[in-house]
Amino acid sequence: MPESENTMYIRSNGISAEGTRDQYADGKAAKVWEVFIGDTKVRTMNYRNFLVNMLRNRGCRRILDVACGTGVDSIMLVEEGFEVVSCDASDKMLKYALKERWNRRKEMSFENWVIEEANWLTLYDDIKDHVKGGFDAVICLGNSFAHMPDNFGDQREQKQAITNFEKCLRPGGLLFIDHRNYDSIMETGSAPSKSIYYNSKHMTDIKTSVLIVAGKPAMVSLDYLISTGDETSEFRLSYYPHQLEVFKKILRDIFGHNSYHEIFGDFKELRDNDNPAFYIHLIEKSE
Ligand SMILES: C[S@@+](CC[C@H](N)C(=O)[O-])C[C@H]1O[C@@H](n2cnc3c(N)ncnc32)[C@H](O)[C@@H]1O
Repeated sequence: MPESENTMYIRSNGISAEGTRDQYADGKAAKVWEVFIGDTKVRTMNYRNFLVNMLRNRGCRRILDVACGTGVDSIMLVEEGFEVVSCDASDKMLKYALKERWNRRKEMSFENWVIEEANWLTLYDDIKDHVKGGFDAVICLGNSFAHMPDNFGDQREQKQAITNFEKCLRPGGLLFIDHRNYDSIMETGSAPSKSIYYNSKHMTDIKTSVLIVAGKPAMVSLDYLISTGDETSEFRLSYYPHQLEVFKKILRDIFGHNSYHEIFGDFKELRDNDNPAFYIHLIEKSE
């Protein structure tokens, strides 16, 4: 399989500007998602080592996965014995999660697995019957949050979504949220095709396009080409390029500046001069 070629070209038009519409609605990405993310065992092992330990060590039991997609991370948590509520805005993605729950319905933990359609902008209202006293942890992983575009140029919808995540937590509850290292993508002009999340042997190319608005990077589009030998699939996903310092400030403004906030790089403690593919933020809701 040829090595990925990453190219960056600047476009002022032609990039989908899909708002909070479902980028997965045509079903293309959903269909090849499991191929895209590669060996789920490797990916799941990363999660098991990092997330499960972190959740257990902090006494978390009830987890809300706000971007469950096809269910990869939620399934791992259900298998590990957590009580999981999973949601996503895309019914095309959710249908794979629903299918897995149905296939494994005879296992008690899967029968109890709650799956709902919900949008981050209306999340609390969409799932309020399940919030009860608040979740021990909310997870928004797999580069999901960057799917939300900045429609107004001031990230107000991002802030509304994170406020909803915070509202779904109990006091002392934890938010785990990640984003690609867009600072590095902006600097180098390319996104690594292999990373902690995406280990696929079948990924042949990712083309990186950056939309600049008023001199500022406003959207990054990644055109994925996946070839499994017999079949070739192409799909495009667009992301808001979160910068680490700005994202830190948004989290701290919402959770409070005295809240416990730790940042990991590719599931490891972040050290100076690290250049990870992904940043993962852990922030705690004040008691
Ligand atoms: C990159 S996928 C990741 C799914 C899963 N966490 C994984 O890692 O495989 C991102 C998911 O975020 C969902 N999403 C994007 N914007 C959303 C929104 N505003 N509300 C709810 N879900 C959203 C998409 O539908 C998609 O399933």
